[in-house]
Amino acid sequence: MLTKVKAFAPASVANVSCGFDILGFPIDNIGDTIEIERNNTGKITINPIKGPGTLSTDPDKNVCGVIAKAMLKDLGKSDGIVISLTKGILPGSGLGSSAASSAVTAFAVNALYGNPFDGKKLVEYAMLGEELASGTKHADNVAPATLGGFIAIRSYDPFDLINIPVPENLYCAVIHPMVEVRTELSRNVLKKNVPLKTAIKQWGNVAGLIAGLFSSDYNLIGRSLEDHIVEPVRSLLISGYAEIREAAKNAGALGGGISGSGPSIFNLCEGEESAKAVANAMAKAADELKLPYEVHVSKISTTGCRFVE
Ligand code: HSE
Repeated sequence: MLTKVKAFAPASVANVSCGFDILGFPIDNIGDTIEIERNNTGKITINPIKGPGTLSTDPDKNVCGVIAKAMLKDLGKSDGIVISLTKGILPGSGLGSSAASSAVTAFAVNALYGNPFDGKKLVEYAMLGEELASGTKHADNVAPATLGGFIAIRSYDPFDLINIPVPENLYCAVIHPMVEVRTELSRNVLKKNVPLKTAIKQWGNVAGLIAGLFSSDYNLIGRSLEDHIVEPVRSLLISGYAEIREAAKNAGALGGGISGSGPSIFNLCEGEESAKAVANAMAKAADELKLPYEVHVSKISTTGCRFVE
């Protein structure tokens, strides 16, 4: 059996406009890396965390610690483990920061013990991290970060995940304005009830988006990227939101919205060149507003957690 595992989990875009808590996909190139080593101390230790953010290293207050503890308990193991985490994603970015740490922990602990759990079960373990970080066990970041691909959560109880095919030439351009929006706060501002007329519009867009992804209909994908429920409330927390969205639209984006709970803003595009042009246009808009930011361009990644040499 392995004594040490090193693995990576990607950032992700959750909600994808119309699919609050039920849709998400991974972004390539950015994410969190973990090294987990087994020992016989019987204790879970988290080394000082490298990279951006100021996360706790107390195993009961850190998503990696909570997940590792739950998995060891279920496996009946009294081993100790040492966790070394390198964050590639700033917490509170809307790019699935807690999800990447959670997913990679579940993946690495599973590998350490010979892969006793299947992918769906790993997502359920990773959701414990989301519960700690945001107060809710949502899977729209952890499922794509763990499994890769565009994922829909058909149901939380019973837990049912669907892998949605993605058109070959679908790319994503993301801008991350460098301000922290805490997921817990941006969940609390949401209205608890949705008028039926609004829900009908939202359901129509979810149907359109999924149909567009299945049939590679870029136009249908674009016009389905509308959010009548969450965006009107959350966009108020993101300075420059309207200007950045407008710039992306004018540069040819198919459509977009808030990435996860924000402040990041994503846009789907047909082709890499278009995604780069949209990223540049969003960056220019942010420059004009004097907002600090990072931009990312990525194919809709089909890879979730993976081993690192
Ligand atoms: N669906 C979650 C939310 C994603 O929007 O609160 C958090 O990243």
